[in-house]
This record gives sequence, structure tokens and C-alpha cells, in this order.
Amino acid sequence: MFSDLNGLHKLLAKSLRVTVLTGSGVSAECGIPVFRGESGIWNDHKPEDLATMKAFKRSPELVWAFYNWRRGLIRDSGPGPSHLAIAEMGKKWDGFTLITQNVDGLHEAAGSDGVKKLHGSIWQLVCIRCDYRREDREEWTEVPKCPKCGNNLRPDVVWFGEPLDNDMLDQSINAALSSQVFISVGTSLMVQPAASLAMLAKQSGAATVEINPQKTFYTGEMDYVFNVEARDILPKLIA
Ligand code: OAD
Ligand code: ZN
Repeated sequence: MFSDLNGLHKLLAKSLRVTVLTGSGVSAECGIPVFRGESGIWNDHKPEDLATMKAFKRSPELVWAFYNWRRGLIRDSGPGPSHLAIAEMGKKWDGFTLITQNVDGLHEAAGSDGVKKLHGSIWQLVCIRCDYRREDREEWTEVPKCPKCGNNLRPDVVWFGEPLDNDMLDQSINAALSSQVFISVGTSLMVQPAASLAMLAKQSGAATVEINPQKTFYTGEMDYVFNVEARDILPKLIA
């Protein structure tokens, strides 16, 4: 385990398949709060009050207030230096895959294509009853209703206790298994199955990289560890 930027540079230069997994840390650089740790959202709020179907059925107003607040923060922000650097990486390697746990859409805004959005999108609304869905960037002070059946619309994000999209997960697992370098950045790796992707990559021979100012449960398993903010290192990887 070492933070050898030169070594990683050389490795990246001869690698064809590179996978990056991101978490809320890359968007923290744009003023969007992370979930865990000192100023994390889950310090002040319980996930079971805001990010479960049970909570939504009990109080859709409260859940929508939370999502409307987050949508506002994201709307007022834009992609940051890390999103932009990752988008550049996508152009550099033909075999590049970006997997994100973030629902904010900032990777796409930075120009990344084909992002595997494991936890969905805060900008997609889906009906809790029928198959209605739409892209939507409005500000909602009340609960939006389905124009087809009149039931409540919810953000199309993965809540606790809900399964991930199967195809998206399969594609992410395949990318992890076939990558030569797997970079985990801005995530505490506390939520499965995203967290186990780095270890899948390692077991199938990839060099693993962690970029995070804090240690995670998997830090000791990583081949390269950079205990810094993402914006301090990602632009250097494409230089
Ligand atoms: P967490 O809040 O669990 O972790 C954010 C990580 O980013 C922490 O380890 C921080 O140390 C790190 N970090 C903060 N600033 C950083 C920076 N500038 N550069 C690099 N790293 C930085 O967020 P996630 O791991 O994304 O799920 O959380 C995973 C999932 O848990 C989320 O997708 C969400 C949440 O509950 C759902 O909503 C389903
Ligand atoms: Zn409906």
C-alpha cells in the first residue's frame, strides 16, 4: 500500500481497462454534503425517516422536502474539478467505466458518458403505482402527482431495502472484474454492493486505488492509497 503517483501514472499508461467508482466525496467539492462523517447528512437525519419506502408512505411531504432541498443544492452547483477530471479520463481510455453511487447527475454534466448510476437519479421521477416516469428538474414545494393515475411521484433513487437495477449492477460487476486498474474515490465504501466492487476487481487481478482524505474499511486492501481530496489528485492522473 503506497501513495506512489509516479508508479500509478506508469501503470495507467500501460492499462487499457480502467474503472472508477465514485461516491459523495467528489460532489462535496461542489458544496453538496456527504452522508457520513462529521458533516454528513446521516448525522442530523435518520435514513429510515427520509430514504425508505416506508418513510415515503408515512410522510411523502417530509421526504420530498429533503429531496427538494438536495435538488436545490445540486441545481445551484455545477460539476467540480473531480467530475471534470473523471470525464477527461473517460476520453483517454477506450475501456473506461465510470460507476457512481451519486444521484446528482454531475458526472454527466461534466461530460461523462454511459455512467453506471448504481443508486439512480434524483432528476428522474417515477410513479409509486404505475409505469409513469419522467425527467424533472422543477422545484417541488408539494408532492408531485402522477398525471396518469394520480398517485404520488417519487425520485428514482435507490432507497434502503430496495434492490439495485440488475443490468446496471451486472455491467458494474463485469467492469470491475475486467479492469486492470480500479479507482475508488470519495466513497466511504459502507454501502453494499457498491463497496464490494473494489474487492472483486482486486481478486481478478486489478490494481486497486483509493482516493479519500479519510481511511475506509478497505484502505488496508488497496494497492495505492492517496489520503487527499479528490481534486488534489485526479487532475494529476490525466496530466
Ligand atoms: P459517504 O458520506 O458514506 O462517504 C463520503 C466519503 O467521501 C467519506 O469517506 C469522505 O472521507 C470522503 N470525502 C469527503 N470529501 C472528499 C474529497 N474532497 N475527496 C475525496 N473524498 C472525500 O458517501 P458514499 O460513500 O457516497 O446511498 O455513500 C454511499 C451511499 O450511502 C450513498 O449513495 C447513499 C448513502 O446512504 C443511497 O442513497 C442509497
Ligand atoms: Zn401513476
